[in-house]
Amino acid sequence: KKCVLAYSGGLDTSVILGWLQDQGYEVHAVYVDLGQPCEDREAIMQKARDCGAASAKLIDVREELCRDFAFPVLAWQAKYEQIYLLGTSIARPLISKVCLQVAREVGAVAYAHGATGKGNDQCRFQLAAEALDPKVEMIAPWRIKEFRDAFPGRTELIAYCAEKNIPVKASTAKPYSSDENVLHISYEAGELEELDVNGVELVDFGMGVSPQEAPDESESVTIGFESGVPTTLNGQAVNALEMVERLNDIGGRNGIGRIDMIENRFVGMKSRGVYESPGMTILYDALMYVEQLTMDRDLMHLRDRLAPEVAEMVYYGFWYTPKMDALMSFIKQAQAIVTGEVTLKLYKGNISVDSRSSPNSLYDAEIATMEGGGSYNQDDAEGFLRIQGLPSRVQGTVTPRKY
Ligand code: ARG
Ligand code: SIN
Repeated sequence: KKCVLAYSGGLDTSVILGWLQDQGYEVHAVYVDLGQPCEDREAIMQKARDCGAASAKLIDVREELCRDFAFPVLAWQAKYEQIYLLGTSIARPLISKVCLQVAREVGAVAYAHGATGKGNDQCRFQLAAEALDPKVEMIAPWRIKEFRDAFPGRTELIAYCAEKNIPVKASTAKPYSSDENVLHISYEAGELEELDVNGVELVDFGMGVSPQEAPDESESVTIGFESGVPTTLNGQAVNALEMVERLNDIGGRNGIGRIDMIENRFVGMKSRGVYESPGMTILYDALMYVEQLTMDRDLMHLRDRLAPEVAEMVYYGFWYTPKMDALMSFIKQAQAIVTGEVTLKLYKGNISVDSRSSPNSLYDAEIATMEGGGSYNQDDAEGFLRIQGLPSRVQGTVTPRKY
């Protein structure tokens, strides 16, 4: 039987690659390039082949990740539990899609991954895969008792590699685990499980400096949006990947986008996570300022009420669903006139707005002015408030409030 494996080149998926062959599978390794740090991609592919993979493919989806996955979530202003920008969550359905494309090419019936049975990632991999190919056989070795019994810890994983001649890079052991792609780095587990440990002090951040170390001068950055999609950076047209990468640099050097939270995993437990996402943090703010200028009030409020729902669905892994399709049609329509440019000032972890403009601006100084005159007739507010206040006046008469 043939199986595809979402392969990272790390310890776990290297062992899984061997173990699946022990179980009688012909294994096809797929390295989905999301911008994770990796010194030598060819070496990782070669390692997979050396470990007996029938084929090893590297598929670069960094542009697609930003353009078709992260940017629609950005258009929703979707953040999980107020602050998490979903950088790991949103990459998972794309990994599943790519792995299943390879599965179809090579005729594989099964899809294996290295996510544990305690986390969110298994949910996202599996829910996406089953939506795309309802017949796919999912293999999550960490959910299989025999696999867990065989590999109770790192020592046994390393021993297995030695036995099978699988090269193990002596990774400088960090006191936590991390997951990096072009959108963000997440840090979890290990010493971060102790809540009296200061997360942002413990973590050796990979994308930027701390606010304290950032320059004493603010830095300006100008971002242009077309129908809710970021398209220009400092006046220059850039693709989605360049946009995110360059904003990661700019935000990173100004200490933008670090958070430390306790979050509710889909599987029920609360877990502690530290994240850094400098570029996406800037984009969320930048888009908000253009929306403030262009988006209809009631539409914006409706979007804002639905955004937590979208965040929850992305976090849980319900990406390929009819509900998400409908929500995405909605946001495309809602963002249609959100075109404009905003200049932000970045200063020691903070983002403030310097100026904004839009050909579709609904802001009318003539209407809003607190100076005399203008085109707003204050007499009209008289009747407006008489009607708005009617229920309260009746209520206050029937059941008077103590005050
Ligand atoms: N808690 C975050 C999330 O659920 C990050 C998960 C990190 N995953 C990992 N394999 N290290 O999206
Ligand atoms: C894992 O358990 O595989 C990583 C953490 C998560 O998915 O939440």
